[in-house]
Amino acid sequence: MLRRLHPEQPESFAFTPANLAWAEGQITKYPEGRQASAIIPLLWRAQEQEGWLSRPAIEAVADMLDMAYIRALEVASFYFMFQLQPVGSVAHIQVCGTTSCMICGAEDLIVVCQEKIASKPHVISGDGKFSWEEVECLGSCTNAPMAQIGKDYYEDLTAEKFGQLIDELAAGKVPTPGPQNGRYGAEPLSGLTSLTEYDSGRTQYNASVQLAADIGDTVKCIDGTEVPLLTPWLKDAEAPVAEKPKAKSAPKKAVKKAVAPKAELETGDKPATLNAARGGTADDLKMIKGVGPKLEGVLNDIGIFHYDQIAAWSGTEVAWADQNLVGFKGRVSRDDWVAQAKLLATGQETEFAKRAKEAGTYEED
Ligand code: FES
Repeated sequence: MLRRLHPEQPESFAFTPANLAWAEGQITKYPEGRQASAIIPLLWRAQEQEGWLSRPAIEAVADMLDMAYIRALEVASFYFMFQLQPVGSVAHIQVCGTTSCMICGAEDLIVVCQEKIASKPHVISGDGKFSWEEVECLGSCTNAPMAQIGKDYYEDLTAEKFGQLIDELAAGKVPTPGPQNGRYGAEPLSGLTSLTEYDSGRTQYNASVQLAADIGDTVKCIDGTEVPLLTPWLKDAEAPVAEKPKAKSAPKKAVKKAVAPKAELETGDKPATLNAARGGTADDLKMIKGVGPKLEGVLNDIGIFHYDQIAAWSGTEVAWADQNLVGFKGRVSRDDWVAQAKLLATGQETEFAKRAKEAGTYEED
């Protein structure tokens, strides 16, 4: 497949402060002169932040790593994991079309994509939530046919089941990944014939599915809030890296204040904000599914303190928030904050808020 830069590009790209600190930490993994080895994680983080890899993002990463732009573009255009065009706000679905999956029904899955998302790959669905493409073998051939949605694999699919999964995702649910036919992992369809003693005492799902289920959101984008930074070789793993690697300082455009590109700031209408919480006490916005302490801080910083403020957002205001909460793009509509806030504003409790209170936790997704 021809993989080229999208004809429409944003004006600029900048990592959010949290993502920039993470990226700088990654660069320090490599010895002097080998900082370019960090190209894939940095491109990936840029994609996680924006949803896709724009030319300004690729160039910003190249600048950070002292690489020629063409070298970074070679990497970005080679790997299917990098999306060179905008994708659906909920998920970009990659259907494996290679031999095992093709024999077991991949073509039927592609028909589902054509009917439910768009007739052609890389075209965003009418509701903006999904896009799809056919990819080469994803290494899950024993569980064919399969598709990667977000970070996880959905395996042993049928067209009917695949359609249901897309519907669930569109409704804001996160279906459990892994085999969809009752299989635990990649054991024979007829059940285990050996090592049967390991059948007991295992977790509910196989390891990767269990992890996804524990995180609770297979389509979650990494957004820089996953502190502490995974840089244990640095003295203070939680602190942003103060010193740039010697290879080359990040250019101004890569380190300047992290804001959404200008074009995105013009999306929708900015909701009304307050200078401070009414009565000096803000609502606990973490009771809204999808809002954790980081995002609550972002909301408070822009003047959003109360459930009723969010409950009153119009469609265009939701669109603004979806685009302008940098690092959390698409989160507002995905988790339907307005509906949640309407209940919370009137003293009612959502299922999520109830669970969060009982568990004393929240979701930072
Ligand atoms: S052929 Fe589909 S995962 Fe390998």
